[in-house]
Amino acid sequence: MTDAATQRPVGGPDLPQERRLVTEIPGPESVRRFERRGQHVATGVSTTLPVFVEAAGGGVLVDADGNSLIDLASGIAVTGVGNSAPEVTARVVEQAQAFTHTCFMVTPYDGYVDVCEKLAELTPGDFDKRSALLNSGAEAVENAVKIARVHTGRDAVAVFDHAYHGRTNLTMAMTAKNMPYKQGFGPFANEVYRAPMSYPFREPAPLSGEQAADRAIDVLDKQVGARNLACVVIEPILGEGGFVVPADGFLPRLREWTAEHGIVFVADEIQSGFCRTGDWFACDHEGVVPDLITTAKGIAGGLPLAAVTGRAEIMNSVHVGGLGGTYGGNPVACAAALGSIEAMTKQDLPARARRIGEIVSGRLTAIAEKHPSIGDIRGRGAMMAAEIVGADGLTPDPVRAGSVSAFCHAHGVVTLTCGTYGNVLRFLPPLVMPEHLLTEAFDVVAEAFDATA
Ligand SMILES: Cc1ncc(COP(=O)(O)O)c(C=O)c1O
Repeated sequence: MTDAATQRPVGGPDLPQERRLVTEIPGPESVRRFERRGQHVATGVSTTLPVFVEAAGGGVLVDADGNSLIDLASGIAVTGVGNSAPEVTARVVEQAQAFTHTCFMVTPYDGYVDVCEKLAELTPGDFDKRSALLNSGAEAVENAVKIARVHTGRDAVAVFDHAYHGRTNLTMAMTAKNMPYKQGFGPFANEVYRAPMSYPFREPAPLSGEQAADRAIDVLDKQVGARNLACVVIEPILGEGGFVVPADGFLPRLREWTAEHGIVFVADEIQSGFCRTGDWFACDHEGVVPDLITTAKGIAGGLPLAAVTGRAEIMNSVHVGGLGGTYGGNPVACAAALGSIEAMTKQDLPARARRIGEIVSGRLTAIAEKHPSIGDIRGRGAMMAAEIVGADGLTPDPVRAGSVSAFCHAHGVVTLTCGTYGNVLRFLPPLVMPEHLLTEAFDVVAEAFDATA
């Protein structure tokens, strides 16, 4: 759709909510623009699906050739409220017209404080909290570690197998997977130690959540020493590592152990937070209350904003001037976050995420009955995945996962893969996606499995 006066494309929820293919994917105009991209953009910056987007909203992306694609990615779990959600754009425009930047550390403004107040209300834990706002998820994780180190006076950081925490030097050290995130980029920050994760599908023998936590605790206790640990940083549901949901009891047991030893428990909810899993935060499902929580992605409807939120006494242990950055908590990004939180509350998006979860798991289960290449279906709410395996039911099959995904792309459905072995299809629709579109998207996913069998 184009605006009659400006002739510019208009996105948002009023875009026709349909899959419409008028050319091959990518179409000729996208191909032309992609060639130009190659002349100017560094090759290290990758592209999953080379269509150039002109407008997006609800559950669709419209490309430069006029194709309308169903979005099962949300820009990697960002646009939960939908692209150009009215609550977001209204506040962004209003804020951009008032002022765009002062630097909160130079002269403050209400939007920043309002976001921190909302974070205190919404994040798990009924205690006095403080927040610091930043630009990216990686920056939030780095700051959580800085805060935990100052608070405890200890250096060591515990992370888990299959973890993903970002691409800065410290967060690369915390991220598990080498290719493509770490290869050639070392040396990495030290004092980062990795413990085994609970990965129910890949345990050699059934292991309860408590047993899996004790296995991790044993490694940390023996190899690092609890008294040297500043923090344990964990994604309550693994994101890039494969949407692994740890066995019930794993997170509560770890939480208990960290509390016993004065270790700061940091939940990295950058991908799983803000309604995605059917609750405001993934920790809420098991009533786990972290000391610090890192958020980004879904918080601001597409604008770059991230936060560390947590117990006031931990957050406030850092000296004045120790936290911040030029753009952290930019006023336009804060306005977007306030609009996005308003949309999540007004539309009860946790409930929408639960409904999406029911539909997606139902569809995946039906596909798996025909296709044993789906070894595991997992996730919560609108953060669902299928792990693709070979004939033995276990060997990762990234080639098949890639072919299914490529078929979906060619047929107008934007899908993503993930996982340490690259064999996990993950589904992250905008939480506002209409049901008919979700159903149509999974018709295509089903066809993709048939076509690539
Ligand atoms: C769990 C988790 N932590 C941290 C990050 C890094 O966030 P960003 O890409 O905004 O730096 C991501 C990004 O995918 C993530 O999923």
